Amino acid sequence: MKADKHSIYKQANTEINSILEGESNMILKMATINCVLKKYLPYFYWVGFYCLNENELIVGPYQGTLGCLHIPLSKGVCGLAASTEKVQIVEDVHLFPDHIACDENTRSEIVLPVWNNQKKLIAVFDVDSTELAAFDGVDKQYLTELLELHFSKNNLVQNYQ
Ligand code: SME
Repeated sequence: MKADKHSIYKQANTEINSILEGESNMILKMATINCVLKKYLPYFYWVGFYCLNENELIVGPYQGTLGCLHIPLSKGVCGLAASTEKVQIVEDVHLFPDHIACDENTRSEIVLPVWNNQKKLIAVFDVDSTELAAFDGVDKQYLTELLELHFSKNNLVQNYQ
């Protein structure tokens, strides 16, 4: 499975990078990343961005079942990733006391901070799976690379316009 993950991520990231070449709009990038990753990675059940907005997270572009609209920075895996600015991998959400159950089918998740090119946190990227322990260092590696390329090392349009 690990070998598979590497090759699937390589294909997915290559496709995303080619589609997004020369693009700068944040929403456009977020929507495209969600769509292509969900197409390639079979264990992605919910994939999307929660954007930092006036001291809370609000749901941004996503693919999957209805997401919570507001997440306080003090709540859930997304809140922890945003407040610590560190990647969170939760193998079993039932063992994470503060998990926010937007969808009861979710069993594991990875949440990564997203910074702009001024090193300012703008969002978190949340991927949920119905499989236990679906995410590991391989997901972290390729998703980090993707987010850096398209948000932190890029002339990003930093708002919704
Ligand atoms: N998993 C998140 C909540 C967002 S949804 O699952 C879409 C959390 O506990 O932070």
